[in-house]
Amino acid sequence: MSGEVLELAESLCAAAVARVLRHLGPLPPDGSLPEAVTPRAQGAYGALVRFAVARGLLRAGSLTPRAALLAHAPYAEQLVTRAEVVAADPVAFRWLCRALDHLEDVLRGAVLAEAALFPEGDFTLAGQVYADSPLFGWFGTKALQLLPTLGDAPRVLELGAGTGSTAQAVIEQGLVASYLFTDVSDVLVAQAQARIRHRAVTFRVLDVDADDALPGPVDGVMALNVLHLSRDPEAVLDRIRRALVPGGFVLLGEVCGPEPGAAFPLMELTFGLLPSLWRHAGPAGPLRPVQAWSAMLTERGFGDVQVHPAPHRIGGVIVARRTS
Ligand SMILES: C[S@@+](CC[C@H](N)C(=O)[O-])C[C@H]1O[C@@H](n2cnc3c(N)ncnc32)[C@H](O)[C@@H]1O
Repeated sequence: MSGEVLELAESLCAAAVARVLRHLGPLPPDGSLPEAVTPRAQGAYGALVRFAVARGLLRAGSLTPRAALLAHAPYAEQLVTRAEVVAADPVAFRWLCRALDHLEDVLRGAVLAEAALFPEGDFTLAGQVYADSPLFGWFGTKALQLLPTLGDAPRVLELGAGTGSTAQAVIEQGLVASYLFTDVSDVLVAQAQARIRHRAVTFRVLDVDADDALPGPVDGVMALNVLHLSRDPEAVLDRIRRALVPGGFVLLGEVCGPEPGAAFPLMELTFGLLPSLWRHAGPAGPLRPVQAWSAMLTERGFGDVQVHPAPHRIGGVIVARRTS
């Protein structure tokens, strides 16, 4: 069913992207931003254009006949007619529709992406995406499966723990002896602290890009869909290694498109509306295939690297150990 979910999600994206590109008017021939697009949305606009080119909506800077046709397709109608697919992952579709509904306004700068995705600072739907969507939630579910195989009730540090769906499940299932929940966002840390009440958990605001040493020693470090947001993932891996006891594990989750640099619209056209996804990204975007992450772990001195690919080639979970 998940394959169909992705297929329908892509067709919804195609209809929305075609419509928005049509409204924004001709693309500047030099590849610069159209006048109507705010510089703050440059990353999101780049993702939209890459998506449009890859899906045959845009050729040589002009919309194709397919795009013209799709621009008139009301995507809500497609949702209704494919209700059984939507039912397989309703949260992912609510999240996608929220983003697509605001796509044009965010690009124009009429609405801030943060306000569009988290109205009045409400992270509920984003949290549900990680907790309840079979597609997005795969990474947390896999981490929960793997944790018990990585050692007895270890001390774990989670980086970029966000809305805390994985942390909560780890605690409820009694998988660790102690858990340090961290995120760069003081709002998310405070919300998690109010919700997850357990003597095994402590909370801290922590920026993975800060030069300080990470808190340790710990037996394991988890970072699910965080390292692609970092200014310097290699340096973060070095700090993770130093925080680990010898033999300690790092568990990374990283989402990606099917090919290096390929757009993964469910990510790039939703969370990708936020400038933070693009802040440190190279020309191919912030997402790297799992092989790139596993190679980086090996280069940074980790051993016993194991890759657990996600279904539909949307990235994977990688586990490695501090071997020296
Ligand atoms: C895509 S979300 C993933 C959240 C969570 N790990 C999960 O899988 O549900 C990325 C998280 O990383 C956090 N983040 C972004 N930049 C960070 C940084 N420099 N240091 C620590 N956390 C960061 C964000 O605040 C957000 O909560």
